[in-house]
Amino acid sequence: MELIFEISKPGRRGYRLPELDVERVCVEEHIPAQYLRKDLNLPELDELQVVRHFTKLSQMNYAIDTTMVPLGSCSMKYNPRINEELAGIKEFQEVHPLTDESCIQGTLRLAYELKELLKELGGFAEVSLQPAAGAHGELLGLLLVRAYHLDKGNTQKKKVLIPDSAHGTNPASAALCGFDVITVKSDKHGELDWEDFLSKLDHRTACLMITNPNTLGIFERRIERIVQKLHELDALLYMDGANFNAVVGLAKPGDWGVDVMHFNLHKTFSTPHGGGGPGSGPVGVSERLRDYLPVPQIDYDGERYFLNWDIPKSVGKLLAFYGHFGVWLRALAYILSYGNEIKKVSEFSVLNARYLKRLLEGVFKDDYPDVPCMHEFVLSARNLLKHGVNAMDVAKRLLDYGYYAPTVYFPLIVKEALMIEPTEAENLDTLRDFAEALKKIVQEAKDNPSLLKEAPYTTPVRRIKEAEANRKPKLRWK
Ligand SMILES: Cc1ncc(COP(=O)(O)O)c(C=O)c1O
Repeated sequence: MELIFEISKPGRRGYRLPELDVERVCVEEHIPAQYLRKDLNLPELDELQVVRHFTKLSQMNYAIDTTMVPLGSCSMKYNPRINEELAGIKEFQEVHPLTDESCIQGTLRLAYELKELLKELGGFAEVSLQPAAGAHGELLGLLLVRAYHLDKGNTQKKKVLIPDSAHGTNPASAALCGFDVITVKSDKHGELDWEDFLSKLDHRTACLMITNPNTLGIFERRIERIVQKLHELDALLYMDGANFNAVVGLAKPGDWGVDVMHFNLHKTFSTPHGGGGPGSGPVGVSERLRDYLPVPQIDYDGERYFLNWDIPKSVGKLLAFYGHFGVWLRALAYILSYGNEIKKVSEFSVLNARYLKRLLEGVFKDDYPDVPCMHEFVLSARNLLKHGVNAMDVAKRLLDYGYYAPTVYFPLIVKEALMIEPTEAENLDTLRDFAEALKKIVQEAKDNPSLLKEAPYTTPVRRIKEAEANRKPKLRWK
């Protein structure tokens, strides 16, 4: 397809402003000549061309509105339109962040109510809504852990223990906060290896950073014992709550003894994760960490909602303003629309994942066949290597079958990983069709492996050099 610049024709216009009937302000008088652009080099098109161009572009993409997006670890579920409508309300969109609190009581109230709901769902003493994404929440969580230990004079606490199944952002966030990252092995059930954990836990441990359910989609059953061991040494438990979709409404991490957890609002509570758009990673804390939360906190004194800057031991501010209100609004609407039934989200996401895993039994390798999965599961395409086919080839071929591909090659501890998360949003027919597509692909791998090596055939762009596209992106035309 041609670029918009390539279909441009000099002089074409979509809309012409009427002639000015007031005196023209001469910009040249106000702006120094060197700052005045002579040619903006904008494409010149009529309106219909523009509409068609962008509509065609949108049709070249995969989206949750057109197909299943089974990206493990991303919870790419349908985002109900009603939430979009609410987030689009002009009065919310146009609030200026410096507006006086007395004029935005409604806005602050919604934020406060979301905070209270997250406290309730997570079982936490307090929540900060500020972080702009999951990884940003990790950064805040670890800053809180550091502030807690420094405040107590625990200057020797430099180690952060992280399981080898963790998301890459976990060790990155810990390193960014100046901690030493110590990897803990996983055991044959996909859970934290108990002996390895105990051998690495000591008085220098600041915290353990664990994901539950973890990135294998497996629930860490010893979570309460883990907390106990940590607390005996005044070490804390950070839980990466990116997989909260599997437990929301069923269990409260705060009740397990978790000291700090980030929520990925843009997964569990409806804003899609994959678009690179704004996210939100609120952080919930136990009493231990409450005093260090960032300023300002959104509070209520019984009469008015206000931004509370009076937190003397606060780690400071994380964002220029307060957080991503549009994402908060979607999350609030999503939670309220389920109300007391919110556990249906996790029940159905787990049921869907277990059903799909069952449908795929024997199709790929499964390193944890006897462990029930939670909201996602990880299989391995190792069984296809003997045909010269790998996980990437399977993922690429799925695009020809009209599906977005699952997450591949993560978590790192599973070779040729295919990480599949159907979410609660998909119905049984879609799951069966998806499983059928994968079975056909495995058959193709056996009968005609070269077919898979060249896939995809039906996408506007075929295989790209992904590493190069990241390292040397070409973001401009010419
Ligand atoms: C387990 C886990 N932790 C952390 C993150 C980071 O979240 P974000 O992408 O919002 O920064 C992700 C993202 O997918 C994740 O899956």
